Amino acid sequence: MLKPKKIWIASPFMSTPATPSSSSGPSQTSHPSHWFDPLYRNAERDVTQVPWATAAANPLLRQALDSIPPVSGDRTAIVVGCGLGDDAELLSQAGYRVTAFDISESAIAWCRERFPSSPVHYQVADLFQLPTDWQHSFDLAFESITIQALPLDHRQASMDRIASLVRPEGDLWIHTYLRPSEEPPSGPPWPLTLDELNYFETLGFEATRQQTQRKKDSRFPQRIWVEYQRQPITEKTLA
Ligand SMILES: C[S@@+](CC[C@H](N)C(=O)[O-])C[C@H]1O[C@@H](n2cnc3c(N)ncnc32)[C@H](O)[C@@H]1O
Repeated sequence: MLKPKKIWIASPFMSTPATPSSSSGPSQTSHPSHWFDPLYRNAERDVTQVPWATAAANPLLRQALDSIPPVSGDRTAIVVGCGLGDDAELLSQAGYRVTAFDISESAIAWCRERFPSSPVHYQVADLFQLPTDWQHSFDLAFESITIQALPLDHRQASMDRIASLVRPEGDLWIHTYLRPSEEPPSGPPWPLTLDELNYFETLGFEATRQQTQRKKDSRFPQRIWVEYQRQPITEKTLA
């Protein structure tokens, strides 16, 4: 029987500590991401049960890739919170050597099943406890609607960790919903304000291209795509 598409709902169990500690792994209910793996697992391989999943690559990512020169095979990209893997696959087809990670073991297992002969390196990893050898090592980091999937008290920490993946003068592409006022939304999701997004600039990233979009019939109709380039790293911008 067809199940109705799941929608994002504010969830009563989302109270979280200000900073994830090493003793709070993803399965602990105090971890801000603890609910993702059960959601993917309970979806039982039915994409319609994952509220954000479309089983297709992000059209804005496709547009961005179409606008750059062909990518040579030694360029690396990392996809943060890769979900079901469609964006990682698109980056791989564009020529990047791709690592794609998600905190959810079920999501990563699902990616591997969906794309069994993919060259993408799918890996379970927590944004808040990244492997040390990923620091400053990717030519491109891409994240779509993952920062906003984490509560406001984890905003800067999540942005710091994403920034830390990008090598000096590397690229960072962000796709997120925007909220119109400073007022905290009752997430998930917790869309960003433009001010919050500008935090990347204080980390030494310069916006080189951006576009906004309006989606009709959405609780958060305003969307933004921003391409940043990391400036050479100084002590002040070391993340
Ligand atoms: C809203 S979904 C977006 C998925 C995908 N980027 C997309 O655009 O469809 C957020 C994703 O981030 C993952 N995630 C949440 N917290 C994470 C964390 N701490 N570390 C790594 N991945 C995380 C979730 O499991 C989920 O797949």
